[in-house]
Amino acid sequence: MSRGVVVDLFCGAGGASLGFVQAGYTVAGAVDINDEALETYKRNLCDADLDEYPGEVTFDSPLKGNLNANKGGHVTFEYIRNEFGLEPGEVDVIAGCPPCQNFSKLRDTTPWPEDEPKDELLQSYVELIRAEKPGAVFFENVQGITNKRDGETTYSQWFKDQMRGMTRDDDPEEKGYGVNLKVVNAADYGVPQRRMRTIGICIYGASDSEVEFPPETHAREPEDGLKERWVTVKDVLKEEYERGRLKQDLDLGQKQVGIDGYPDDPAHRSRRHNSNTVETMKAIRRHGDSWKDLRGTEDEEFIRECHRGFDTQAGAAYGIMDWESPAPTLTTRCTNFSSGRYTHPEENRTITFREAALLMSFPADFKLPDKNSAAERVVGNAVPPQLVKSIVEDLNVARKEPRKIA
Ligand SMILES: C[S@@+](CC[C@H](N)C(=O)[O-])C[C@H]1O[C@@H](n2cnc3c(N)ncnc32)[C@H](O)[C@@H]1O
Repeated sequence: MSRGVVVDLFCGAGGASLGFVQAGYTVAGAVDINDEALETYKRNLCDADLDEYPGEVTFDSPLKGNLNANKGGHVTFEYIRNEFGLEPGEVDVIAGCPPCQNFSKLRDTTPWPEDEPKDELLQSYVELIRAEKPGAVFFENVQGITNKRDGETTYSQWFKDQMRGMTRDDDPEEKGYGVNLKVVNAADYGVPQRRMRTIGICIYGASDSEVEFPPETHAREPEDGLKERWVTVKDVLKEEYERGRLKQDLDLGQKQVGIDGYPDDPAHRSRRHNSNTVETMKAIRRHGDSWKDLRGTEDEEFIRECHRGFDTQAGAAYGIMDWESPAPTLTTRCTNFSSGRYTHPEENRTITFREAALLMSFPADFKLPDKNSAAERVVGNAVPPQLVKSIVEDLNVARKEPRKIA
């Protein structure tokens, strides 16, 4: 039996949806505005065979729609229900990861307005929830959403207040949602990546203290025997190389072809680095794992102009990934040499799009866009499916009867 009916807002390429399917839910609707994300979602969640998982996806295509209620032409929750043939009250869980750019440090310096969050998409997300008031809400965002503002208000506080005060018409007790917003590290739930994110779970009718996160399953140094060791880059990538499913030594600019028994993998393609980049990678490897290790060496000439004179900032840029740790946070630029610690642990190339997807806990056959920028964007934007699965596996939200909405 399905654990519950989910609608995924800001669905991207489907990382969160896949986690729900892996945990046994029925994903009955999904909406995003971006064509490449929608196409990737469709190929992997609507058109592919998901029989190996306990859950399912019940529609042929996610919906293209603008969820920003402050802009004209946006879609309402009623419209979403109609598009996916859902009855009012049928949805058990609304999942949503409104994009996080607005919580960046840049916006943090501007004054905080009274009573209003500045973030239109967070605000729109709350209004979409208000139109359905499902049994549970799943929320994911950057860690910065919990940042203190003038010592008191935070975006997360605003979200909590809205959810706690959101009551159903047929609830004389006006209980509202119990809310737990927690900053978690995806590595602590078995994802091969150190990714700090704010995850929110809201359950209608519960008190805040009743809304609990499942215990972490992994730790850097597990002591009590109850947890496993963090999953490392080596655990994931070496396994693929050793099984012969992925080639480690790709030629620059080439994709993987010709492995016996496995289809060619267009997503396992290396960026075409120029010779100066390759020489810089080699130089960094000779002295350590970051451009900073070049300081004071005979290879100092490889330090980029923009880093000369820098002290502690941007240490991860041009960095080499460590086999023995989970990957660093993969961003929407996670195959770019200059954007972080994204150089392969042994090869003089950055990680491929396939390697990035594996480090995000996507299955090995997850199809990615052909365009480099789109491939790394959908991967870097995703919520790791393994994280979602671990967190929602034990939420008990399915109702026997659809709830009537006036
Ligand atoms: C953080 S990503 C979501 C990732 C997704 N949950 C996953 O796990 O793969 C945010 C998504 O919001 C979408 N988005 C941004 N603005 C939007 C809007 N106005 N309406 C609908 N979707 C929007 C982006 O295209 C992006 O795919």
